[in-house]
Amino acid sequence: DEDRLLAGFDATIARNDRIEPRDWMPEGYRKTLVRQVAQHAHSEIIGMQPEGNWLTRAPSLRRKAILLAKVQDEAGHGLYLYSACETLGVSRAELTEMLIEGRQKYSSIFNYPTLSYADVGTIGWLVDGAAICNQVPLCRTSFGPYGRAMIRICKEESFHQRQGYELLMTMMRGTDEQRAMVQESVDRFWWPALMMFGPPDAESPNTAQSMAWGIKRNTNDDLRQRFVDMTVPQAEALGVTLPDPDLVWNEDRGHHDFGEPDWEEFMAVVKGNGPCNAQRIAHRRRAHEDGAWVREAATAFAARSRIAGAQ
Ligand code: ACO
Repeated sequence: DEDRLLAGFDATIARNDRIEPRDWMPEGYRKTLVRQVAQHAHSEIIGMQPEGNWLTRAPSLRRKAILLAKVQDEAGHGLYLYSACETLGVSRAELTEMLIEGRQKYSSIFNYPTLSYADVGTIGWLVDGAAICNQVPLCRTSFGPYGRAMIRICKEESFHQRQGYELLMTMMRGTDEQRAMVQESVDRFWWPALMMFGPPDAESPNTAQSMAWGIKRNTNDDLRQRFVDMTVPQAEALGVTLPDPDLVWNEDRGHHDFGEPDWEEFMAVVKGNGPCNAQRIAHRRRAHEDGAWVREAATAFAARSRIAGAQ
């Protein structure tokens, strides 16, 4: 009796209540969540690569310990999100296959290279800052397991953001050369960070339906604006210039006006033609293949334990 089930689902959404895995849900809702949560999980896992690039070259033991902890947190985030996604009826093995075969996406931002150590700080400040802006509202998403995963992830992301800002602050107190490194890094990451929020609302095919279902709580442009407003005073405190000549406070709107990201570049990166797309997927595929023996051994061990347990 699908009408009755749909009415129950709609009433839960209207009450701002959670949908849980055992509840009936429309197929489109399930598909949209699998798409978004999987994309989110893949982003966390692929996101380990650009920063992992600096683990062996961190300038001190303290910086190395911080960076290691951060990259491990990202792995943890990927795992909670894969678990949330599995409650929708798709296995982690299938999700990994879809990632390495290019059938599911991950965030555009991780297709840019980390060329200097300052990028570790900039990623913490801008990329994790953008992630927090996007993810805090997702703590109230309508699907229970996704919202609950987001709570812990957001706490850890705010630690990541602070470590990035503190790193950049330290470099800004250093030499002219270090200050120039920070500015150069911010120049490269500013526009890609704005693109993380997705295409403009008018060109976002999924936003309207995802908002109606309570999966998304804000539009892409709203969150992008929130991020710009939050970041401008932080840039001032840091002493860096954001590379946008159109960035100016608009008294009437009570928000900053800002320039348009290069949406052609965004589309190219999303379609697989960014600077590091091929490298990121090749690395993920190699890690997956190299780990095959671990999965086989664990499966054999689990099967043997089951037999032993049954005797
Ligand atoms: N990178 C790659 N693809 C993107 C990006 C991006 N920055 N933004 C949008 N897209 C894709 C969408 O996935 C969609 O493609 P699909 O239909 O094939 O999946 C297409 O572009 C059109 O975009 P929208 O209709 O706006 O898509 P959606 O409603 O899903 O909104 C958004 C995109 C805002 C990224 C949303 O999915 C979201 O909030 N996801 C959760 C957050 C997340 O994934 N964060 C990962 C990066 S942060 C981090 O890991 C540190």
